[in-house]
Amino acid sequence: MGKKNNVILIGFMGSGKTTVGIRLSYRMRRIFEDTDKLIEKKQKREIKEIFAAEGEDFFRTLETEMLLHLEETVNNRVISVGGGTPVKEENRKILKRLGTVIYLRLSPETVYERLKNDTTRPLLQGEDPKGKIYQLMESRKEAYESCADIILDVDRLSVEEILGEITTRTGENVR
Ligand code: S3P
Repeated sequence: MGKKNNVILIGFMGSGKTTVGIRLSYRMRRIFEDTDKLIEKKQKREIKEIFAAEGEDFFRTLETEMLLHLEETVNNRVISVGGGTPVKEENRKILKRLGTVIYLRLSPETVYERLKNDTTRPLLQGEDPKGKIYQLMESRKEAYESCADIILDVDRLSVEEILGEITTRTGENVR
């Protein structure tokens, strides 16, 4: 199977993958897919319930299965994936085959500010969410960077500016 023509958004929790993905899909007139949402729909329960009942490893298996399913079934879409998806090497290979991978990079401070009141991310519900953000981001840095075709530093960019960057850099500057 050759490389597909999807646009895939990766990045840490809170980097705006879903918000940007939805807006980008309108702009590019493409269908939007979100692997977390697809997994929740298929499992008929929320991510945090899957983590609580089955643990993280089980969720990671579902993630890989969903990527393989998308590889077989879709093309020309905008796809956003969970923050942890690029950590597994197998997933990075699938993401690359799926299309152009765009990494929305941001600082741990911004992530903390955006997610300090969030209850939907099981990985950040412990005692020291700030420490966990720093530690997870550091450990994932290389995975994100090695997977990306395009890296955007989004800390100080509006959604509109991010869309502009992506459409310019993918040669999809249409409205
Ligand atoms: C995770 C990120 C979440 C979700 C799950 C695990 C992670 O997605 O897949 O809670 O490991 O970073 P978002 O990045 O959309 O929050």
